Amino acid sequence: MTGRGGAGELPDRTHWSGEPLAVWEALWGIPALEAWSTLPSTNDRARHLARSGGAPWSVVVADHQTAGRGRAGARWVSEPAVGLWVSVVIVPRSPAHAGLLPLLAGTALVRAVEAVGPHPGVRLGLKWPNDVWLDGRKVAGILCEAVGDRVVVGMGLNLRDPAGGFPPDLTARAGSLEGLTERPWSPAAVLGRWLKEFRELSDPGPMRFEGRVADFWSERDILHGRRVRVGALEGVAVGVRADGALTLARDDGSVAEVRAGHVEWLDES
Ligand code: BTN
Repeated sequence: MTGRGGAGELPDRTHWSGEPLAVWEALWGIPALEAWSTLPSTNDRARHLARSGGAPWSVVVADHQTAGRGRAGARWVSEPAVGLWVSVVIVPRSPAHAGLLPLLAGTALVRAVEAVGPHPGVRLGLKWPNDVWLDGRKVAGILCEAVGDRVVVGMGLNLRDPAGGFPPDLTARAGSLEGLTERPWSPAAVLGRWLKEFRELSDPGPMRFEGRVADFWSERDILHGRRVRVGALEGVAVGVRADGALTLARDDGSVAEVRAGHVEWLDES
């Protein structure tokens, strides 16, 4: 890794959200919290930690990312102090567990945001594999990257709209919690609760996406019943299987399983 956050670099923040880092580490029960004013990408820094033996549930947070990444090579707009840009090092118990992390991270985020509001009536949706939506806009996304036997889970949550608004190519679909609800959200409360929910869903790692977590997902699944396209596949989204694959009912009566890819919907609602 080159540039800020690489080998030999040290985080420039001793405090985050008004408290010493050690306070958050103790409160959240995590081995390490690194806080940076600016990084290219918290995922890059967490990958560096993962490669150099960083303990499971080590967390990296930055006020600003200059090269935030989304899935499939997309950029992730991460302007200073308007969102939570955070990455966590996870050691999955098995390949099956690793494959479910994206779904678990997204589910945990919806539960966390709704739990800490307290803004009654705010009901978030999930778009496979782990986008979090509110009122027809994407407010958060998750990027999971394997690093040897570890996985870096990066989470980006828009708390406020960027100062000059979202870039034109994102304005139609991107949103922020505060922009949409006109209420404040505490970054520390959301991050602490996300870590708690994510940990509860991940430790010990489930091998299948079923039971309570799958039921919660189905209630929040914004793709369910919608006509979608993923790469060359088209069909109606009918849910998520126990192994985490998205299931599509195709026009020829067959069922397709989607394990990766960007889902676009073909109907508008
Ligand atoms: C997506 O929806 O495409 C995933 C977005 C993931 C963004 C987060 S912000 C923190 C972490 N660092 C990155 O560079 N990306 C993730």
